[in-house]
Amino acid sequence: MVSRVIPVDPFDLVIFGSTGDLAQRKILPALFRRYCAGQWPQDVQIIGAARSELDSDAFRDVVTQSLREHAPAHCTDSKALNAFLQRVDYVALDALTDEGWDQLAAKLTIDRVRAFYFSVGPRLFGPLAERIKAHDLATAQTRIVIEKPFGHDLGSAQALNATLAEHFSESQIYRIDHYLGKETVQNLMAVRFGNMLFEPLWNSQYVDHIQITVAESVGIKGREEYYERAGAMRDMVQNHLMQLLCLIAMEPPAKFDPDAVRDEKLKVIRALDPVEPHHIVRGQFEGGPNGCSYRDTVGNPRSTTESYVALRAHVSNWRWAGTPFYLRTGKRLVARSSVINVMFKDAPHSIFGADAGRHANVLSIRLQPNEGITLKVTIKEPGQGGMRLVDVPLDMSFAEALGPENQDPPDAYERLVMDVIRGNQTLFMRGDEVEAAWAWTDPIIAGWQARGDVPKPYESGSTGPGDAELLMKRDGRRWQGINP
Ligand code: BG6
Repeated sequence: MVSRVIPVDPFDLVIFGSTGDLAQRKILPALFRRYCAGQWPQDVQIIGAARSELDSDAFRDVVTQSLREHAPAHCTDSKALNAFLQRVDYVALDALTDEGWDQLAAKLTIDRVRAFYFSVGPRLFGPLAERIKAHDLATAQTRIVIEKPFGHDLGSAQALNATLAEHFSESQIYRIDHYLGKETVQNLMAVRFGNMLFEPLWNSQYVDHIQITVAESVGIKGREEYYERAGAMRDMVQNHLMQLLCLIAMEPPAKFDPDAVRDEKLKVIRALDPVEPHHIVRGQFEGGPNGCSYRDTVGNPRSTTESYVALRAHVSNWRWAGTPFYLRTGKRLVARSSVINVMFKDAPHSIFGADAGRHANVLSIRLQPNEGITLKVTIKEPGQGGMRLVDVPLDMSFAEALGPENQDPPDAYERLVMDVIRGNQTLFMRGDEVEAAWAWTDPIIAGWQARGDVPKPYESGSTGPGDAELLMKRDGRRWQGINP
């Protein structure tokens, strides 16, 4: 099955921080892949902007290098690469002074979508927004794109939202949570709202609990300073895991439109109960064969920042009262694996007697790697000798089911950047969602600080601290395995 490409209209995209890691690793390769797919027309302009004093040719060399590294398969077509580079330009510019802004203004096209990507640290979001306005670069078709962290807590997120709101309307602000651009994360909505099969069972009457795991095998190298201030709670739970929880728990929106979807997600966040201290486990990785300990990595022998969090959350509404959501995420775990497991209840009565054992259905939605869905169903064990039951998977890998051209799903940034150009905010976080997520997260972090909480050590390459197992065990449950 070949996916359909719907071309977008011509646009100007300015990438502030265009020589930085995010632009080079994600944004430019995503644009190039979409160009190769034929998604955008010839007269598009991609203007890199950064403080480095480069001319346009020198910037194109930088772009070429990063494309060779991050989109190697597409770079084999040198004609496409050269044509893409023709669309790339550069302006040396300073976010904090007026230097370079007139040159940028001179390059922009009148009367077309104009997107400004703030691929810079959050302290520059405000100054950039101000300069865009001051230099009269914002038109009715202007959009700005920002990346997390959207603040450090509720207060700073509110301040950031207020600063942006001074210059842009909410419909012009695109807050990226790249998890929402992942193909399988969008598939969560398709599975839930495109099938009749699941919806009648999607509630606390039939679902015992839900497990959301985002496990990473990598550590935090290269991002020590940021991570030491953030920790797993701010870096992953407040945004990515929260978004996954919302998509699983939300009511069906009336239509697949930005505000309808985001209204429903917001209701979920607002329905979350405060987390009890004994329902949360923090961990910090120790050294092992694949690298040094967290504390050695950040060079702080007394660091109390968590690289792992497991918690039990409750969505207090009619649908989910009594069904816990267990969330866990961590660095340097045994494998990279993001999975949502919907654990159904046991059948209310077994006609097969006690010997048949307990069997419950599990719907596993694998976000990465090996994207797909598995439904564990109970059948009769083959053979003579009575009725013994066994659980078998109904397994669907998207790559196998949808054909070889879907083997390599598009990177989240491909989808998200094109949605910015199309003006579709469905997969972007609204300001009130971000604030509600902080309002839930802040008391948890404040509690740790007040208690002087120290994270539990866990072995690199393990499944996390033993206390996370206890969190489940106390409730008579078990985590599903973390498998690559
Ligand atoms: C980022 C976090 O938002 O997401 C990183 O800051 C994390 O710490 C990354 O590694 C995970 O993204 P992915 O797409 O690799 O699952």
